[in-house]
Amino acid sequence: MNILVINGSPKGERSNSYQLTKAFLEGMKQGVFEEDKDKEVTVEEFLVNRLDIKPCLGCFNCWNKTPGKCCIIDDMEKVIEKLLWADITIWSFPLYYYTVPGSLKNLIDRQLPMELPFMVEREDGVGNGSHPSRYDMSGKKTVVISTCGFYTAEGNYDGVRSLFDHMCEKNKYTTIFCGQGELFRVPELSKRTGEYLEWVKRAGKEYVKGGIRKETQQELDKLLYPKEVFERMADASWGIEKESGKREPEALLFTRQMAALYCKESYSGKDQVLEMYYTDLDECYQVIMGKEGSEVLTDGFQPATTRIETPFGVWRSIAMGEIRGDEALMKQLYKVKGDFSLMLNWDSYFGGGKAAEKKETQEGKEGENNKKTNMNLMLIPWIVFWVAAAINPFAGSLISIFTCAVVPLFFFRNKKTIYDILSGSLVTGLSIAVLMGGSVRLLIPLSYLAFGVMWIVTCLVKIPLTANYSMNSYGGEEALKNPLFIKTNRILTFIWGILYLLTPIWTYFIMGTQIGYLTGAVNSVLPVLMGLFTLWFQKWYPAKVARGN
Ligand SMILES: Cc1cc2nc3c(=O)[nH]c(=O)nc-3n(C[C@H](O)[C@H](O)[C@H](O)COP(=O)(O)O)c2cc1C
Repeated sequence: MNILVINGSPKGERSNSYQLTKAFLEGMKQGVFEEDKDKEVTVEEFLVNRLDIKPCLGCFNCWNKTPGKCCIIDDMEKVIEKLLWADITIWSFPLYYYTVPGSLKNLIDRQLPMELPFMVEREDGVGNGSHPSRYDMSGKKTVVISTCGFYTAEGNYDGVRSLFDHMCEKNKYTTIFCGQGELFRVPELSKRTGEYLEWVKRAGKEYVKGGIRKETQQELDKLLYPKEVFERMADASWGIEKESGKREPEALLFTRQMAALYCKESYSGKDQVLEMYYTDLDECYQVIMGKEGSEVLTDGFQPATTRIETPFGVWRSIAMGEIRGDEALMKQLYKVKGDFSLMLNWDSYFGGGKAAEKKETQEGKEGENNKKTNMNLMLIPWIVFWVAAAINPFAGSLISIFTCAVVPLFFFRNKKTIYDILSGSLVTGLSIAVLMGGSVRLLIPLSYLAFGVMWIVTCLVKIPLTANYSMNSYGGEEALKNPLFIKTNRILTFIWGILYLLTPIWTYFIMGTQIGYLTGAVNSVLPVLMGLFTLWFQKWYPAKVARGN
């Protein structure tokens, strides 16, 4: 397969549009390899601005005096040669004044020798006539990839579409047009732009396998950021002070860009003041996170809700995705003082509207991946057994078996964990043992022991038991990548595990007394206190680490 890339951006390889083209090419190569690993893909590229292509003289010599040959001797000859060689030509360029850049238009004009002078009707209804091709171009394909500076590509590409409708045939070429193109050069936004490039890559792969799928196209048509966020970011990106027009310090520009990502839909109900202190630069700025948006203060500071003390380079690396913020915090590369909850919800505040969008799509979908775990489904069989079997061993065991049979019905709405399944099986087993005449005085303490062992053992695995459930309040499965979240949960799981390993001791004795039937109720007191401790600990511990203590 021969692929020709015509890069019409004056920025050459640094072109925003070319980032998309590179991703598309990568996808194409991968797609071809997957279809037939022996098939060769050859890519040739032209940087239009490095070519010597003079403007067309309009002499029509290429039609009458020297058919098929231009009278100007320059690089256009080799461009035509490659256009004829290529199976697929990718036109990659920025949008300039609603059309292609001048130098590229020049190249397009100089394709005249490739056409015959005669007038023919078009079958696709575009325009009122055209010229037949001098060469057999059937089977050749065209892809048009372009970025533009406005927030959306919609409505800006009429000129380009019209040009390519005439050049190729209407609907006979593939396009990727993307607004907010300048964001592809901002490393701090690489998380979002990288995500978009992944979709472009996927599009390339699907293209060679028969066509870009509808879902992929929908992702490509999405805005990189909501209009408002993008426009604030674009304004900030020039690094110029609005009033004086002077250049702003780099850290201030960076803080403004971060503030531009603030998603006001995540407003917590009261204004929050995020103070950024760049320790190496000794520069301090505040971001006011308000109901209507964010504002950056350079003086006249307000009492800070949360203060981040960080070397500038560290925070920048986090923003660029070079290091994870939570990992850097664990390594004490920066400190957080004041209210730590802002950090826990960082993505919903500064995810540039992604969090709101994610929430929307999750609300729309009820698919398997969007189901949440529910700790109650793991606990209920145990609690029923502990309370009911202690009051009446026979009836209590039957009720417990019934409960274990009913709980799985909730898995239609909730995501099940291995611990939900294990709990159901263990409680059923213990209940059957009671029904078969086993001693409740032994089996109930044994059940606490089994429960405690289940918790303790998970402290040794990658994801401790509580993390499987508490992740729902901390951004879902993403939280499982957060070492601080995992460490907090490991400690909590361990403490809970110890409590249940010890519980059998006094349970055995209580079961032997007259209030044995109340064992379940008595044993609920400590877990309630532990529950309160857990609520406090899961906020206190990360905040303590963040303060650098
Ligand atoms: C001379 C000039 C004209 C431009 N005209 C438009 C335009 O009409 N519409 C638009 O959305 N962006 C316009 N832009 C912005 C570029 O399309 C945008 O910055 C693009 O991402 C640059 O892509 P590149 O890095 O591939 O060259 C223009 C930029 C320049 C320099």
